[in-house]
Amino acid sequence: FGSIATKIQRNPKFATINSDDIRYFRDLLGEKNVKQDEDALLAANMDWMRKYKGSSKLLLLPRSTEEVSQILKYCNSRCLGVVPQGGNTGLVGGSVPVFDEVIVNLGSMNKVISFDEVSGILVSEAGCILESLVNFLDNKGFIMPLDLGAKGSCQIGGNVSTNAGGLRLLRYGSLHANVLGLEAVLANGDVLDMLGTLRKDNTGYDLKHLFIGSEGSLGIVTKVSILTPPKLSSVNVAFLACTDYLSCQKLFLEARRKLGEVLSAFEFLDEQAMDLALNHLEGVRNPLPTALHKFYVLIETTGSDEQSDKEKLEAFLVHSLEGGLISDGVVAQDIQQASSVWNIREGLPEALMKAGAVYKYDLSIPVEKIYDIVEEMRNKLGHSARVVAYGHLGDGNLHLNISCPQYDDAVLAQIEPFVYEWTSKNRGSISAEHGLGLMKAEKIFYSKSPAAVQLMASVKNLLDPNHILNPYKVLPQSLSFP
Ligand code: FAD
Ligand code: MLT
Ligand code: ZN
Repeated sequence: FGSIATKIQRNPKFATINSDDIRYFRDLLGEKNVKQDEDALLAANMDWMRKYKGSSKLLLLPRSTEEVSQILKYCNSRCLGVVPQGGNTGLVGGSVPVFDEVIVNLGSMNKVISFDEVSGILVSEAGCILESLVNFLDNKGFIMPLDLGAKGSCQIGGNVSTNAGGLRLLRYGSLHANVLGLEAVLANGDVLDMLGTLRKDNTGYDLKHLFIGSEGSLGIVTKVSILTPPKLSSVNVAFLACTDYLSCQKLFLEARRKLGEVLSAFEFLDEQAMDLALNHLEGVRNPLPTALHKFYVLIETTGSDEQSDKEKLEAFLVHSLEGGLISDGVVAQDIQQASSVWNIREGLPEALMKAGAVYKYDLSIPVEKIYDIVEEMRNKLGHSARVVAYGHLGDGNLHLNISCPQYDDAVLAQIEPFVYEWTSKNRGSISAEHGLGLMKAEKIFYSKSPAAVQLMASVKNLLDPNHILNPYKVLPQSLSFP
């Protein structure tokens, strides 16, 4: 742990928690919502990957916006650092403290506030778990516009704060498109009501966008209003094999042309990713078992006409097979088969965790170049580590993972800064969807101009002049303590 944290200096302006602070929070929240016990703190201090670990002595569980407001007002006046926390599934060390920051977890704010069955607009508290919103909407005939492997734990407030992409972005677009409104609490405790439920509202600057993807550095999101698409009756899933990356790329173009409006996901994984899934995920089997293929593509279609959607998919598959774009493939015959195919793809982050240590990179790269960096990385690393590639090919989003038995500075020195330089040179983004967090706060210049970063720092200074919110994350430390 802590190899990154050791390079960071604790903000000398921050106070440390004392008994008066504890008394204040107990009076405000009630004893059981002020956690100081070892087990609760251990879980809240450590991220999902068990890679980043803070040493906070205090976990707060507010139940209302008013409580969040009072917490922040107090922390701001005392100059106590605060880490907003949702489901703690983030992958860049953003959701846990670096030092002794107070953790404010939104998990107790988990109520659906309203749902409009005509417009499909859902308003909920930020701590609602994504999967519980999926289940709530399922009963009403709607779906969430985003889906990700962490759905059982991540919270909608966390999704918004990371601008999570996931498996459906190709079809429904990013949260910048689907979030209609937000309520957020600023560092000084002011509640900013931007909880609109309108599709269109061009009255001045659209401030909610500042909070989407700002990873808890500008405010705590307490409520979310989101546009949800209707649940369509026909979903088909195909799992295909390709012999080379160029075929995957061409297949994507064909899928957009031939499946058009019904295409809802286009994911890829390579041979090393499949091997990892087969070895580390329980109950997973390869639906195309003849041999390990070089590449696998998961295509999902979602439409409203079962007959015509099936025919479309079949015609596309025949055409792709005849044209040599795919070498093998299966279409799931029922929901169980579809979900077992999805389990392979969604289980990859877990498979990597089980395989040992992992260096994760989440890159936006022009689709035609996605696999170039994977091959270069493999050549560079030789046998010292396993390079595993998968991702949201349809969005130009590569998940490049370097798996080794344990963390090894010599391996890391081979990966960085190469991976960032390569991405920058190819005009990609060093964070497609996971954010910068602690991991990449110092790397922001690979993807953003100095002028843009300076403006971000000015926004941060304006909204959080004491820099209490998620310190050491997102922006470089040189801009973090004014
Ligand atoms: P946390 O991890 O708790 O926090 C993430 C960041 O948001 C932190 O900086 C935190 O301070 C901040 N934050 C959390 N809640 C709030 C709030 N209410 N107000 C202000 N700030 C807040 N990401 C993708 O984009 N696409 C994927 O497909 C994807 N798949 C994943 C699969 C797995 C198995 C895992 C473990 C992670 C995956 N992720 C993916 C990472 C992704 O960032 C998170 O899963 C999710 O969006 C984070 O939500 P969370 O509630 O867990 O937030
Ligand atoms: C995914 O697409 O599976 C997630 O973003 C997590 C990961 O990159 O491992
Ligand atoms: Zn992803």
